[in-house]
Amino acid sequence: SAGKNGYPFYMEKEIMEQPEAIRNTIKDRIVNGLPDFTSDGVPDSLFTDCDRICVVACGTAMHAGLVAQALVKSIVHVQMDVELASEFMYSDPVIDEKTLVIAVSQSGETIDTLEALKYAKRQGAKCLSVINVKGSSIARESDYVLYTAAGPEIAVASTKAYTTQLSVFYLVVAKMALLRGVYTEEQTKSFIAELERVPEVMQKVLEKRRDIHVIAKKILEAKDLFMIGRGLDYSILLEGSLKLKEVSYIHSEAYASGELKHGPIALITTNTPVVATVTQEKLMSKELSNIKEVKSRGADIVLFIKEALSGDLDTEYQVIKLPDMQDEFMVLPASVALQLLAYYVSSDKGFDVDKPRNLAKVVTVE
Ligand code: G6P
Repeated sequence: SAGKNGYPFYMEKEIMEQPEAIRNTIKDRIVNGLPDFTSDGVPDSLFTDCDRICVVACGTAMHAGLVAQALVKSIVHVQMDVELASEFMYSDPVIDEKTLVIAVSQSGETIDTLEALKYAKRQGAKCLSVINVKGSSIARESDYVLYTAAGPEIAVASTKAYTTQLSVFYLVVAKMALLRGVYTEEQTKSFIAELERVPEVMQKVLEKRRDIHVIAKKILEAKDLFMIGRGLDYSILLEGSLKLKEVSYIHSEAYASGELKHGPIALITTNTPVVATVTQEKLMSKELSNIKEVKSRGADIVLFIKEALSGDLDTEYQVIKLPDMQDEFMVLPASVALQLLAYYVSSDKGFDVDKPRNLAKVVTVE
C-alpha cells in the first residue's frame, strides 16, 4: 500500500494525481504563452503539411481521440477521423503522404495500435504518437512522439493517462489553429491560458468527491444504466461509460441524446439510472429537453452540469455542479467527475477496483 500513497486503490490515487500530471505534461510545452514542441523535436510543418488527420487507438486512448476530433473539426476546421486500431487496416483506410496519423497509447505496447501505425507508415503517412511510457514499441516506430507526463499508471482502468492525452491534444489544437491562421497569437494565448487553469479547476472537482460518492451509492444496485449527452458531452460520456462498466460491471451505454428516440428510450423504465453531462451552452436546451424526456419515463437522473448553466433545474435531479471553464475545456473537469463516480461504485461494491475481471492493462494480442 506504500505505492498507493495511503489510498486504498491505485485508481483513486491516480485520479487524485491528475492536476499534477497535467501540469507536468503542459509546462515545458508552453513558451511565452504559446504552444511549443521544440523540445519534442516536432516541426511545425507536421501540422501544416497535412490535409487530414487520422487517430488510431484502442479503448480509453481512442476516446481521447474522439474529444480531439471534435476540437480539431470545430476549431481548426481540418478533417479528422478516429479509427479503432483493431479495425483500421482491414477497412482499406484512405491514407497517403498528406495524412498525419496520430497513435494514442498509454503503454505504447498495444499490438493493434502498433500494427495500425506500421500499416499507415507503409502507406506513406507521417506518424506522430502520444504515449505515456518512454521508449515503448509504438514510440520507437513513430516519426515523432509527444510524451504524456502522467507517470506510471498501475490501475487497469485508465484515468490520468486519458486526461494527460487530452491536455496534449489541446496544445496540438492551439498549435494548428495558430499555424493555419485560424487563431491570432492573442487568441492562441488566451486558449493556452485557459488550459493552464485546468489543474486548479480539476482540483475543485476532486474536492467535491464526497458529493459524488453520495450519488454513487444510489446506483450501486443498477443492472443497466445510460449516459446521454450531445457533442463534446457525448464524447466524454463514451469514456465515462466505459470506465463505469470496466470497474463496476454495471451494463452502461453512452448515447448521443438525439438518438434516444431511435431505440434506447424503449429501455427506460422506473428507476433506470441515466447519467447526463451538460457543459456546452449551445447544446444545453436540447440536452435538458432530452433529460426531461427520460425523466418523464421514470428515469433517475444524475446530472453533471457546468455551474454557469445550472440556473433553473428540476429539483428531482441529483445534481453535481462543475466549476466553470470555457465550454471547450469542460471535458476535463467533467471527466474527473465521471471517473470518481465509476470509482466509488466499484469500491462500494467491494470489488478489486484496480484489477477488474478479464481485463489487462496492456493488450499484446490481436
Ligand atoms: C486496455 C486497457 C485500457 C486501455 C487500452 C489501450 O484495454 O485496459 O485502459 O485504454 O488497453 O491501451 P493503451 O496502452 O494503448 O492506451
